[in-house]
Amino acid sequence: MKRILITGAAGQIGTELASRLRDRYGPAMILPTDIRDPAAWASLGPAEQLDCLDLEALREVVRRFGPTDIFHLAAILSAAAEENPLRAYQINMDGLVNVLQVAAETGCRVFTPSSIAAFGPETPRDPAPQSTLQRPTTMYGVTKVAGELLCDYYHARFGVDARGLRFPGLISYTAPPGGGTTDYAVDIFHAALDQGRYTCFLKPDTRMDMMYMPDAIRAIIELMEAPAASLVHRNAFNVTAMHFTPAELADAIRDHVPGFEIDYDPDPLRQAIADSWPERLDDSEAREQWGWRHEYELADMVADMFRGLRAHMAQAAVGAAGR
Ligand code: SER
Repeated sequence: MKRILITGAAGQIGTELASRLRDRYGPAMILPTDIRDPAAWASLGPAEQLDCLDLEALREVVRRFGPTDIFHLAAILSAAAEENPLRAYQINMDGLVNVLQVAAETGCRVFTPSSIAAFGPETPRDPAPQSTLQRPTTMYGVTKVAGELLCDYYHARFGVDARGLRFPGLISYTAPPGGGTTDYAVDIFHAALDQGRYTCFLKPDTRMDMMYMPDAIRAIIELMEAPAASLVHRNAFNVTAMHFTPAELADAIRDHVPGFEIDYDPDPLRQAIADSWPERLDDSEAREQWGWRHEYELADMVADMFRGLRAHMAQAAVGAAGR
């Protein structure tokens, strides 16, 4: 039986993951936590405030809830990390090492996401192999590589079953991303519906890996349910789904918002980050070792984003009319 503690549960991944895990394992078996007050984000069941940097507080929650698994999502994304690199280092590294330490003490399994950001300009760009040169040039990337190594270390030294995925940019409509370089691929949908136009902070031909959130959530669950014996890598699996540029995404959006306009005002910081990442990950090891398959291609994802966002807007309008 699974009991899952989630950290960073109010974020872009956590919001959707918590709801899928509640459906799959039962609401009482899932405890979402976040540094933010649950009054501001948790409406669907028990949830708690937890700062992963506070090791004793983390130990106390784990003692009380008794999880079999910790899904550790609390982190600062790439562009936000460059605003305050020291803080990003502390949150991304100290948070993870605390989770791994408590897992070693209690026998929990751990899931934590890595990223395309774990690669750098010297990595082969298309595709980036599973095992390759990793010399990232961002603080976020430094913490992701170190995090991958920490997971391997805690497995080798203390037997912690720590698993992870190198995610590409994640696209979703439920909760906004916070401070990533791939965020344009979410912002553009809101702008298309609100204003019919968008100014992109990356150049039109910046090709990056992306994945729709339902695929990402399924990847997490499938990896954590995969028999350990089938995993050669266990941690830091490349996974991907689509590879597009802002100009190609804008074209796909025009199928749903005729006349949609895009212009470009590249932000030097985020453009440099994007240029340092691969265009495409080679995820054949994930496909072979635990059967990873993506479902959503660009056109399916765009159609579903507009369906979801329009449903949200309609619901919000009904709510506003009822007040
Ligand atoms: N989406 C993340 C970012 O842009 C990459 O992992 O920071």
